[in-house]
Amino acid sequence: MTSRHFLSLLDFSSDELLALITNAIDVKQRLKQGVLHTPLQGKVLAMIFEKSSTRTRVSFEAGMSQLGGHSMFLSDRDIHLGRGEPIEDSARVISSMVDGIIIRTFGHERVLALAAHSSAPVINGLSDLLHPCQLLADMQTWFELRGSIEGATVAWIGDGNNMCHSYINAAIRFGFNLNIGCPQNHAPDSSIIDSARGRVKIFHTAAEAARHAHLLVTDVWASMGQEQEQDERLKIFSEFQVSAELMALADADALFMHCLPAHRGEEVTASVLDGEQSVVWQEAENRLHAQKALLEALLG
Ligand code: CP
Ligand code: NVA
Repeated sequence: MTSRHFLSLLDFSSDELLALITNAIDVKQRLKQGVLHTPLQGKVLAMIFEKSSTRTRVSFEAGMSQLGGHSMFLSDRDIHLGRGEPIEDSARVISSMVDGIIIRTFGHERVLALAAHSSAPVINGLSDLLHPCQLLADMQTWFELRGSIEGATVAWIGDGNNMCHSYINAAIRFGFNLNIGCPQNHAPDSSIIDSARGRVKIFHTAAEAARHAHLLVTDVWASMGQEQEQDERLKIFSEFQVSAELMALADADALFMHCLPAHRGEEVTASVLDGEQSVVWQEAENRLHAQKALLEALLG
């Protein structure tokens, strides 16, 4: 199948990602000015969700409508995928009827299998391995507030999870340095670190990672699918909370991001999440604008 997919940030070149962010900023301005922009009239996006979602679902649905297209929400409880119909068969059938598919699932191999058998573009709306759409919004937010991120230092604090992996990919494509502060046994995938060729440094204290950083980012300590590890993880990650004290080690103008949903009092204190350096609401809103730019690029 020859469709262009967005399964990882690395599926797009640096230039393509920069153009996408520029377009996302335009798309946002146009929407705020009330200018109609409907290049996806007649197009349909199927949205397969095997995990919960607020932001991803709402932003893709709203975005498709605003672009003049239509979206359909397919929970695995409602389609045969959840009853064991193979993902490959589902991909063939669904893609024969729609113009694009977004999938949120567990193992990344399901995203790859869907894409391999889909005749329409596939977007990764989060897998256990990666969350590339979130990075489009995070980068848009940085560009709006600070301009280029090339050469800046970003500190990832907490779990070496799907978001952390996508931050490593973003470091490669956008040219920033990434300090990761994580517990010993919760570092990101070593092959993903190796692919970053020196852009990534791993620390086992939050303070070492945060020092002089321009952006601090964290995420939940137990991702979707890890709920049964919640209590154990609260203990393992207790020294990796983003607090005012940790923010004070970073650059004086440092920003704070979190993909949300957040747990105040766990991975981040309420004072940081709701404080002046936090840009999480703009970051969340930008999911809409960045993904509209992505939809236009893939389905337009
Ligand atoms: N950040 C994010 O992907 O949020 P949802 O899980 O609500 O989609
Ligand atoms: N790491 C989190 C991100 C949620 C948007 C998870 O996978 O649950």
